[in-house]
Amino acid sequence: MNHEIVKTKNVQEFYAGLEVLGKGVKGRMGMMLIFGPPGTGKTFITQKQAMQDDTVYVRCKYIDKPKSLLHAIVAELGEEPRRYTSHLFDQALEQLISRPRTLILDEADYLVKGEIIEIVRDLNDMANTPVIISGMGNIDKKLHRFPHLVDRIRSIVQFKLFDLEEIKMLGKEVCEAEIDESGYEYIAKTGQGKFRVTNDLFDLAERLLKRTTSKVISAHHLRPAWEKEKQRERR
Ligand SMILES: Nc1ncnc2c1ncn2[C@@H]1O[C@H](COP(=O)(O)OP(=O)(O)OP(=O)(O)O)[C@@H](O)[C@H]1O
Ligand SMILES: [Mg+2]
Repeated sequence: MNHEIVKTKNVQEFYAGLEVLGKGVKGRMGMMLIFGPPGTGKTFITQKQAMQDDTVYVRCKYIDKPKSLLHAIVAELGEEPRRYTSHLFDQALEQLISRPRTLILDEADYLVKGEIIEIVRDLNDMANTPVIISGMGNIDKKLHRFPHLVDRIRSIVQFKLFDLEEIKMLGKEVCEAEIDESGYEYIAKTGQGKFRVTNDLFDLAERLLKRTTSKVISAHHLRPAWEKEKQRERR
């Protein structure tokens, strides 16, 4: 889904954290940690940020090993990845030293499992490049096993579930149907601030708009249609 950035509280805090990260401390560039529940916009905002020239985004994978992670980093830095792990590390380092860029690692939980996250600390230290680690709700706790890495984290942004006001802002950006107050209240309650369910309800609102003579979608349109869909799914 490619749409404009809605200035949710998460987004505002992300930019505030980014400012802290960008300043560094006495010439040393640290790390930023973002974490929070699913569907709260971590990937969305980090990918948008990666459209800037000075930022690269890498999505970590369950199957990642040092080699595959470095391979992905080097490729994102615009280089032809070399063959061996140590060469790949040198290549990433050379690139980040010659042209400093902020390195974003999304789904970084996968790096914690195999301690591959230490590669990230090495790159941050040796290239003095800012790093953003993004992960699931409890990554902050998982990282306690890595005190040297935690020590380098200069800003922490905890993404939260969307409230009613934010759901309205998101609806105006992504949903083509006009929804009234009762409709938004129903969506906020049913979606519990999670974007994926909320988006399903926006989608339903669009479909309902085509089926009704009404120009505005309300809770009394949404509720029976949603309950019917859920019942059908349970069968
Ligand atoms: N600030 C925003 N402006 C516009 N759309 C947004 C914003 N935040 C989130 N979204 C929408 O919510 C969707 C889900 O967000 P996203 O995939 O980034 O969540 P996530 O936090 O990375 O979830 P997960 O932890 O499951 O990976 C995005 O694809 C986007 O459509
Ligand atoms: Mg994500």
